[in-house]
Amino acid sequence: MRKLVIVFILLCLLKGDEIMGFYENINIIENPNDIDVLVNKNNKLDKNYVPYDLEKISILYSNDDKYLRKEAKEAFENLSMEAKRKGFRVVATSTYRSYDYQEKLYNHYVDEYGLEYADNCSARKGHSEHQTGLAVDVEGTENDYNDFENTKDFIWMKDNAHKYGFILRYPKDKTHITGFKYEPWHYRYVGKEIATYIYEHNLCLEEYKKISN
Ligand code: DAL
Ligand code: ZN
Repeated sequence: MRKLVIVFILLCLLKGDEIMGFYENINIIENPNDIDVLVNKNNKLDKNYVPYDLEKISILYSNDDKYLRKEAKEAFENLSMEAKRKGFRVVATSTYRSYDYQEKLYNHYVDEYGLEYADNCSARKGHSEHQTGLAVDVEGTENDYNDFENTKDFIWMKDNAHKYGFILRYPKDKTHITGFKYEPWHYRYVGKEIATYIYEHNLCLEEYKKISN
């Protein structure tokens, strides 16, 4: 019995925050303007946080008036422009979202489909990285982000997004760490260096932050 307890404690130490429950022990983010800021189910943005340098993406690369932080916006425009040049379509459909808007969106999913469904696909208020102005949902030739995975545009994104500083934020094989279902359409700007490291080592942002701290 004693041996079992010791093994359990060792496992807990080894697994660290993977054992920590989602939406438990929530940490309020102190440096929300950091380009590699980690926003997830255990790290929350302040209600009043609004990025200071939001800029509108050119309508050539988005399907409406959409805003990202300056650095992310410039990188996304370059990415989208290059995609177009190569015959692909990668345009922004959802970018910066305010705390209040995210709350409405999440509540809509809860009302329509229930809590479990909502928590699998939508972040609670303050827990969405869309509030950082560094996240972008994209669509391709199918004109619907839900179908993005089945486009040649997605294949191009998978292999090229990191060159512009973006990562696929919610990969299929990391759902137990991110706490969100696979989202082939959701990309997060972290800068070229970090994005390339994450891409080359097949990590998610949570794993990268753990080894880089
Ligand atoms: N769909 C992502 C997880 C969000 O709501 O931020
Ligand atoms: Zn998204």
